[in-house]
Amino acid sequence: MAKYKIVMVRHGESEWNQLNLFCGWYNAELSDKGRQEAVEAGKAVKEAGLKFDVAHTSVLKRANLTLDSILAESGQTGIPIQKTWRLNERHYGGLTGMDKAETAKKFGEDQVKIWRRSFDIPPPPMDTEHKYYKAIVEDPIYSNGPSKEEFPMFESLKLTIQRTLPYWNDVIIPQLKEGKKIIIAAHGNSLRGIVKHLDEMSDEAIMGLNLPTGIPFIYELDENFKPVVSMKFLGDEETVRKAMESVANQGKAK
Ligand code: 3PG
Repeated sequence: MAKYKIVMVRHGESEWNQLNLFCGWYNAELSDKGRQEAVEAGKAVKEAGLKFDVAHTSVLKRANLTLDSILAESGQTGIPIQKTWRLNERHYGGLTGMDKAETAKKFGEDQVKIWRRSFDIPPPPMDTEHKYYKAIVEDPIYSNGPSKEEFPMFESLKLTIQRTLPYWNDVIIPQLKEGKKIIIAAHGNSLRGIVKHLDEMSDEAIMGLNLPTGIPFIYELDENFKPVVSMKFLGDEETVRKAMESVANQGKAK
């Protein structure tokens, strides 16, 4: 029987999603479409009657603004919001700022799929000469962490899970146990990490999962935090399927 319920959502489309650029830890804005998606997500939350006591998000504004819209649309502004770098998008290393389709043309679609979706093969590291190195490491959003030692220069999904899971286990689970109703607004790959963990997906199976922007999904968990209901999207199946397919296609050469 389900004992706990938690809602998760990937941020609405960002300006860099729209441009089809690898974004990672770059602090991109929401696009107009992304802002609209966030409003729609809030309407869906309201319609489903979902209420929250606390919200968790990354330190990146595309997730923060998506959360704000959802809370505003569903009449829940004012609840505590906890921000952490541990829910950030995976760090795309040297690929940050590169066009996904151009990268596929140059290195092949198979290589891009490995960089985007393999479990433990990381993208190349971001070096100090990288165009976005300073914009990222000197961004004040990181003044409360990660530490210099923890600050990634690239991340595979495996490495992303290694820094996201402690937050799930040490912060989210205790709050669920206290009976708190929670929403997490985060990113394609930090959420893929949580989903992989909850659904005990194999390293191969997780390669096939592409999370759509701005469509909230629900997990219902039993007393051992095992899913009774997995990834139930607040949206019709066909819309969700198409949105997932379009994320997968971002890595195809045009
Ligand atoms: C990014 O960081 O570029 C996206 O938000 C996620 O990218 P992906 O779908 O290529 O992993």
